[in-house]
Amino acid sequence: MTKQFKICVLEGDGIGPEIMAEGIKVLQAVGAKHGAEFSFEKALIGGCAIDAAGDPLPAQTLDIARASDAVLLAAVGGPKWDTTDSTKPRPEQGLLRIRKELGLYTNLRPVQIFSALAGASTLRPEVIEGVDIAIVRELTGGLYFGERHRYYDEPGAGTGGAPGQRAVDTLEYREYEVERIARQAFEAARTRRSRVHSVDKANVLDTSRMWREVVHRVHDEDYADVELIDMLVDNTAMQLVNDPRQFDVVVTENMFGDILSDEAAQITGSLGMLASASMGDGVSLFEPSHGSAPDIAGRGIANPLAQILSCGMMLQYALGMPQAAADITRAITEVLDEGWRTGDIKDASTPADKIVGTAAMGDLVVGHL
Ligand code: IPM
Ligand code: MG
Repeated sequence: MTKQFKICVLEGDGIGPEIMAEGIKVLQAVGAKHGAEFSFEKALIGGCAIDAAGDPLPAQTLDIARASDAVLLAAVGGPKWDTTDSTKPRPEQGLLRIRKELGLYTNLRPVQIFSALAGASTLRPEVIEGVDIAIVRELTGGLYFGERHRYYDEPGAGTGGAPGQRAVDTLEYREYEVERIARQAFEAARTRRSRVHSVDKANVLDTSRMWREVVHRVHDEDYADVELIDMLVDNTAMQLVNDPRQFDVVVTENMFGDILSDEAAQITGSLGMLASASMGDGVSLFEPSHGSAPDIAGRGIANPLAQILSCGMMLQYALGMPQAAADITRAITEVLDEGWRTGDIKDASTPADKIVGTAAMGDLVVGHL
């Protein structure tokens, strides 16, 4: 029996539409093989939604997302909408709001090395061989969702009495937010190598000291079988390039996770290879970890593999089709083993006739399915 799934498709901005087309192509191929049919409903988010509707997350987009089995997103943002004026809408607000509205508090970002790509990393192959990290980023709390203010202090007013601008962001966490993300991390670790690094800045921040207490309580109560290691965020940034193999699951708050996941992605040689899953209690959302790459948008050269891998994560985590997901990973591995590369993952030894564009890379993956 063929399974039917409704997918909400959010192409967003920049390279979004180009890479999404390849994701859809691959889903149709893998569906035909594994007995699933997808209907895709497109909706607007980010800069294109600001242009069309004056809102980076129109209500209609949320309705379509909520009525779907899963949401696929590409990327948002671009120089056209960049401004330091906080009264103007920004594409990124669409992304933050859809995470909040759908309650997507867990962001899972797997960092894996395709061995064919070991040479594309700026780190030595012997340092990165076999790296396999699951970054579990808290996605709906902390600094990105706290209250924000801009003030202008008149001469003599405010602290210090110096006139000028003042800006405030608020970093706040509640115990239940830390507890539920900690549980996600420990559960993930049990299916992997049973080690969790909890990353914080407990030597300075109170939110981090509470984070550490709660993570340890949850660990001692329910997950004492999992190894738990506390690591300060600055040290983690260093350890990730020094010895990335020490990490299995890394759990951390929103902003630290944002920064560390880009760093960890670069270990693999390209941010263009990193997928992510955002999950909560309802519908889940799948998107590449990279951005909208406005500098190369519309040129047909963007790497679609992170988008395609995100489709794989959707099959695995939202649609109950882990074999189809594994099939996608196998197909990509074979394409890379044959030497095919997009521009971002080529190295000095890549022959010119093995460098392909976005659509050709998608076709190669389909060919291997
Ligand atoms: C990411 C992105 C977003 C984030 C931006 C675009 C708001 O960097 O998904 O990592 O910071 O969460
Ligand atoms: Mg980021």
